[in-house]
Amino acid sequence: MTSTAPDVNSAQGILQLGNAFAQAQAVLTAVELDLFTALDAGPATGQDVAARLGLHGRGLRDLLRLLAALGLLEEEDGRFANAPGAARHLVGGRPGYVGGALLGAKANLYHLWDGLAETLRSGRPRSAADGFAAMLADGRELRRYVRMMEGSLEPLVPGLLKAIDWAGRRSVLDVGGGRGALAGRLVAAHPGLAGHVFDLPEMEPLFGEHMAELGLTGAVRFHAGDFFRDELPRADVLVLGHILHNWPPERRGDLMGAAFRAVNPGGLLLVHDRMLDDGRPGVDNLLASLIMALVTEGGSEYPVAELAGLARDAGFAAVDHRPLAENETLVLCRKAA
Ligand SMILES: C[S@@+](CC[C@H](N)C(=O)[O-])C[C@H]1O[C@@H](n2cnc3c(N)ncnc32)[C@H](O)[C@@H]1O
Repeated sequence: MTSTAPDVNSAQGILQLGNAFAQAQAVLTAVELDLFTALDAGPATGQDVAARLGLHGRGLRDLLRLLAALGLLEEEDGRFANAPGAARHLVGGRPGYVGGALLGAKANLYHLWDGLAETLRSGRPRSAADGFAAMLADGRELRRYVRMMEGSLEPLVPGLLKAIDWAGRRSVLDVGGGRGALAGRLVAAHPGLAGHVFDLPEMEPLFGEHMAELGLTGAVRFHAGDFFRDELPRADVLVLGHILHNWPPERRGDLMGAAFRAVNPGGLLLVHDRMLDDGRPGVDNLLASLIMALVTEGGSEYPVAELAGLARDAGFAAVDHRPLAENETLVLCRKAA
């Protein structure tokens, strides 16, 4: 299997690192073509794959063998099948599917990286200033954005379902909770928990559809609003997942204040992001932080210590943190009873 961490003490390794974009594009293209879903029907030769996906055939065998070399496919007697990881996470429609995040990365992020030098020179993001508003107004783009968010959220859901003892909690509010992917899973796993989602009004139709798909209509309530302008509804547990990194520190402080006011006494605020280790942050989280520079006005990933300071300033009585998943940190902020 090709190493994903080349030896940068050698010229070969440095060249490999600088050309890692080619490897990424090969994988993203396979997801774009929905190759892994096509292979779920059973092992296939290159010709079968070409027929299933309507491809010309040129380059296909190399792509299939590359995906096998990367460990995403298995090859036997000239037939290709999904390797276990691809079968679990890249077949459309499966609960563990993360292809949405990759499709979003390909469509929305890949080209922005080409302008990183410009962002570093100007301090300005690469996405258009009105890009978010335009995306909200375009149903197709909004759905793509939602799938991208849910692709990043999916690996975190099992940890969030057991992050705390939910038994004593009556209500949960997912702030910026999109179409209710997490809130739906929480109420399904913890009967008796009342679910609430707060998000921009444009998200409400998608929320309604998603709840109907999950058979949860009525179990989770949608509150439309702007979390910088409107008061948040009260709940025993609030969640701020992948929200704070979109904003500069002073606005993170405003959101922490709004969250503090909304948590019922004795309740909890759960914050999760790809936070930066106070010592030596890892590669993935530094890349995530650079993405925030490319796509937001002042956002970045941030150190746990910075968030703990904001939580105490907001009024929270105790702040703990622990890993939620690889690269993801969960911070638990307790409000005094
Ligand atoms: C990066 S997504 C995070 C979604 C989800 N919490 C997760 O962990 O995947 C940010 C969410 O915040 C919502 N949002 C952005 N600005 C908002 C605002 N001013 N008020 C309310 N929601 C907002 C977006 O619509 C989106 O659903």
